[in-house]
Amino acid sequence: MEDEGSSGTLYGEPDAIDKGLEIRDRVAGEGVQVSSGLADPVPADAPEVLRVEDLTVAFPTEDGLVKAVRGVSYALKEREVLGIVGESGSGKSVSSMAVMGLLPKSARITGKVSFRGQDVLSMSARQRRGLRGKRIAMIFQDPMTALNPVYTVGFQLAEAVLSHELMPKKQALARAEEMLALVGIPQPKTRLDSYPHEFSGGMRQRAMIAMAVINNPDVIIADEPTTALDVTVQAQILEKLIEVKDAVNAAIVLITHDLGVVAGMAHRTLVMYAGRPVELGSTDEIFYRTRMPYTAGLLGSIPSAGDTGRLRPIKGAPPSLISLPPGCPFSPRCPVATDICTKEEPPLAPTDDPDHLAACHHWDRLAATDDPTRFFREGPGTETVAGAAGAPVGGIA
Ligand SMILES: Nc1ncnc2c1ncn2[C@@H]1O[C@H](COP(=O)(O)OP(=O)(O)OP(=O)(O)O)[C@@H](O)[C@H]1O
Ligand code: SF4
Ligand SMILES: [Mg+2]
Repeated sequence: MEDEGSSGTLYGEPDAIDKGLEIRDRVAGEGVQVSSGLADPVPADAPEVLRVEDLTVAFPTEDGLVKAVRGVSYALKEREVLGIVGESGSGKSVSSMAVMGLLPKSARITGKVSFRGQDVLSMSARQRRGLRGKRIAMIFQDPMTALNPVYTVGFQLAEAVLSHELMPKKQALARAEEMLALVGIPQPKTRLDSYPHEFSGGMRQRAMIAMAVINNPDVIIADEPTTALDVTVQAQILEKLIEVKDAVNAAIVLITHDLGVVAGMAHRTLVMYAGRPVELGSTDEIFYRTRMPYTAGLLGSIPSAGDTGRLRPIKGAPPSLISLPPGCPFSPRCPVATDICTKEEPPLAPTDDPDHLAACHHWDRLAATDDPTRFFREGPGTETVAGAAGAPVGGIA
């Protein structure tokens, strides 16, 4: 197999991206029966539920300050699905853990997080606990980290209700049963008495979704919710997640390294690189009118259906978050880079579409080509950009 670059991460397994697009088409074709805000775009005047403004997170370590998140901003509307994609270590999880108040005490956090206008970062621990699990729920990659092996699934679901609401245990168990049915677990009444290890991986992830939605949250943060599952099960779980989020009227922040997942589910997509958002726009804009070379590289590394050749991942590795290079952190890997890229880090700014933001000095050069992924195919030394001024630097390693 061709060198995958030292990041070693492959983006968008072909099956997964096909599945993603298939779900998208299927759901769009069925009306809103099986839900999905995709068939039903989020209205422009939908109320905002979550706003993250210029969030930064740094961790002091023996080797220096790890700048894990460097200025993440986004807003999420009711019922909206925002996909966050990026390579391993790009700050996807840390930025979400900061929103949830789940980072270690050593973390240095600045910026603002508002939930329905309330400032989350200045809340007391008690207020945050009230928010967590009730108004903002989280689904993790590995359900075994969130489900306790020594209690039955029913007990844990009921506890999740009872920790936020006073009600008879019987009523909480009835709610648990209802949620297991909602996420598609057969014989939910009997399954209440099962222990997590008696569930398959897919069923455990369904139970996690049930746990996340049992208190009717406004926001679900799903961090790589299906990565550990095979592609068919992934598709079923994602479909269920969309269906369930609409049943409880929740918005979703969907964190993934898989562009296929985003293609199938997200209204808007945020691409992260080295702790920063580098592209933000509607998912269609990101896929079909890419304005940031890193995103183009990710898209180019997805083999197409008729592609018999080898994968073309972006060569090279993301920079150290302790000593970032000057200028654009992607410049050492970027075939479009010019001198300015090694000197000035570009801000995330509007492109030719005011709602499509990119952090790139040369987004207009991507706009000038039909297929920006070709920059990553053609190799160094090629005249990569129509009308490019300045000599390319860096390029493909
Ligand atoms: N407690 C910590 N102390 C020091 N560094 C940390 C800590 N937690 C996370 N980091 C660093 O912060 C950076 C961002 O991590 P994060 O977990 O957000 O990445 P990610 O984008 O979610 O990656 P993945 O796709 O692998 O889950 C990484 O370099 C990581 O090593
Ligand atoms: S063209 Fe320059 S600014 Fe844009 S991604 Fe490449 S290196 Fe960064
Ligand atoms: Mg992560």
